[in-house]
Amino acid sequence: MKFNNGNWTMIKAINEKNNYLHRALFFICLVCIHFQLKAQKGNEQQMNVFIDALMKKMTLDEKVGQLNQYASNWSTGPISPGGNIIQEIKEGRVGSLLNVKGVDKTRALQEVAMQSRLKIPLLFALDVVHGYKTTFPIPLAEAASWDLNAIKQSARIAAIETAASGIHWTFAPMVDISRDPRWGRVMEGAGEDPYLGSLIAKARIKGFQGNGLGSLDAVMACAKHFAAYGAAIGGRDYNSVDMSEHTLWEIYLPPFKAAVDAGVATMMNSFNDLNGIPATGSAYLQRDILKGKWKFKGFVVSDWGSIGEMVEHGYAVDKSDAAQKAILAGNDMDMESRSYTANLAQLVKEGKVPIAMIDDAVKRILTKKYEMGLFDDPFRYCNEQREKDAINNPQHRIIARDVAQKSIVLLKNQNNLLPLSKSTKTIAVIGPLAKSKEDMLGFWNVPWQDNSDVVTLYEGIEKKVSNSTKLLYAAGVDPNDTTKSGFAEAVNAALQSDVVIVSVGEKRSMSGEAKSRSNIHLPGVQEDLIKALYATGKPIIVIINAGRPLIFDWTANNVPAIIYTWWLGSEAGNAIANVLFGDYNPSGKLPMTFPRTEGQIPIHYDYFNTGRPAPENTKVVNFRSGYIDLPKTPKYAFGYGLSYTTFKYEGLKLSDSMMTKGKNIEVYFTLTNTGKVAGEEVAQLYIRDKVASLVRPVKELKGFEKVYLNPGESKVIHFKIDRDKLSFYNQKLEWKAEPGTFMVMIGAASDNIQLQSSFKLID
Ligand code: BGC
Repeated sequence: MKFNNGNWTMIKAINEKNNYLHRALFFICLVCIHFQLKAQKGNEQQMNVFIDALMKKMTLDEKVGQLNQYASNWSTGPISPGGNIIQEIKEGRVGSLLNVKGVDKTRALQEVAMQSRLKIPLLFALDVVHGYKTTFPIPLAEAASWDLNAIKQSARIAAIETAASGIHWTFAPMVDISRDPRWGRVMEGAGEDPYLGSLIAKARIKGFQGNGLGSLDAVMACAKHFAAYGAAIGGRDYNSVDMSEHTLWEIYLPPFKAAVDAGVATMMNSFNDLNGIPATGSAYLQRDILKGKWKFKGFVVSDWGSIGEMVEHGYAVDKSDAAQKAILAGNDMDMESRSYTANLAQLVKEGKVPIAMIDDAVKRILTKKYEMGLFDDPFRYCNEQREKDAINNPQHRIIARDVAQKSIVLLKNQNNLLPLSKSTKTIAVIGPLAKSKEDMLGFWNVPWQDNSDVVTLYEGIEKKVSNSTKLLYAAGVDPNDTTKSGFAEAVNAALQSDVVIVSVGEKRSMSGEAKSRSNIHLPGVQEDLIKALYATGKPIIVIINAGRPLIFDWTANNVPAIIYTWWLGSEAGNAIANVLFGDYNPSGKLPMTFPRTEGQIPIHYDYFNTGRPAPENTKVVNFRSGYIDLPKTPKYAFGYGLSYTTFKYEGLKLSDSMMTKGKNIEVYFTLTNTGKVAGEEVAQLYIRDKVASLVRPVKELKGFEKVYLNPGESKVIHFKIDRDKLSFYNQKLEWKAEPGTFMVMIGAASDNIQLQSSFKLID
């Protein structure tokens, strides 16, 4: 349907009719909510009576025990040497264990907890960051799908498998915004944008927590790392963060606020200091903002050893001082630093920590145990059959494949080289990652002894092509190495083929925690291999698997087709093959800006204009804000990604030229698939506040819709702009919209605006 004045009237009429329906539905909902709330209140009262009675029986040591968490079977950080964990569990001095998995192990440990005096069950936690047994794409990849349902579904499946394996709690989602691809942990987040990041945070939490804590297929989520960890100076992990209040509130806090609003059960603080105060010891972050202003009712766990690390920071004299500072600041549980267990009771006795603070922390943790149903039955998540069924459910692999293909971003496709024909005679599959299983999983996958079910690129292609297609293979290089001895074999394979597919990028160990890199070019001599293959004159497709935006300038400028696949998980090979051979039309868009060189970092699309803006795409001359040796624009912009079809944007219409009190601006335009195949487009809405009391970014994402269209099909897309979307934190840190002109920009990427208009906000 094309957009014209006739259907404009029709839309208005439909809207009015819908309004009545909505009002009626709204009323029914209110009645339901009323009864639900009443029942909830009753349950809450019951829970409070139970927990208060239990706490009355607890000694101070037992209370401190609830605030104590140890790693069990393996470590994801430096272990603090200490006592015998099993003995401590029996003595009621452990509230939670991390890094345990499987019904057999969790049951055995829970049985130990049942030998303690008060039989308070343990909480089992694990970093289920992108899938449990079925590994999904890394979170940054999933963010590239811009598909909130798919992302929620991925977290849902992860929760089903995790909960069935006896685990109650995942340390996910990571909701740290980051604008620095040198930081190895960008792979764990949703990229650079607070709007997209907030929606993804919510989707993940809803996925993990399902129908609510206590459902047998739900796990507690944990939004981390509170706060501003993604802005580590120089992209160096664990580093300090120096940031204005304004940037903190506007860019880094929104996904955490969204997490709280979505009902996240727990939060984890962070390793960094923020403006000189370690986040773990920050009362401003944890007490004032999180538990105060945002009324967060869950509990806060420290990051691994981060309480004890306040000594290294130079913020605490010793672990006792660190424990005191952390609890006073609102950190409820101590992960692996043994600072609480060794010192809190004494600190209370000396009057340095009020018992009320310990009680509050204990109550928050016991509340979650209660909500998980562990006081009814500590073994309710321990059922071998359920575990077996869940982790071997073939349906989960189908969903993983779907999410994986949606996460792939097509960066270049000159002369429509892609998709390939399935009956191509000879294909050379080259590259160090083409037959790697481990490297498809990416960092933060849950450790399993056997990864044989991961589908490699080679296997995916093998299954896809015709019986008569011949596949040749050569690794060519090792990403960790600079030797070129494998080049000859790879070039030879290319020379015998009709088309060359090269799989390069990062090995699993090259992005992730403590994997910051100062050089984010394609590692080793992989780009030299691409050059050697290109020199054969054969058509060449480069597939880049990585945990972060990489730099590959020569490849981008010369090779005809490039697909960015990130790390896609168990179904990687099948998903990539679907895209290569046209069974899936790529629809991903970059959730993070790709710089031209490291010198442009930090880089993001929502920058300020400055008083001397430089022209786009050229080096600067004449005292403008840019570089004299390269354009200020990135290699690939936020929101960018191609498809095998083309889309046309037209007919932008705003419901009004003025936004007055109580009114929204409705934005409509028509999107048409003008190509030959069906496909999905992520249509993006950006706004710009032209003049304000604080300088505003040149563009801010405020809406998007992923739309599926058949060839020739059109759809009217609608976005609503309300006051909230125009608001920002002013100098007094008040969230307010200021009157004035707002530009409305609709496009296929942050640097590809197709339609533009404006309206005035009247106070
Ligand atoms: C990481 C956290 C993680 C924890 C437990 C820490 O090193 O920063 O994100 O949840 O370890 O594995």
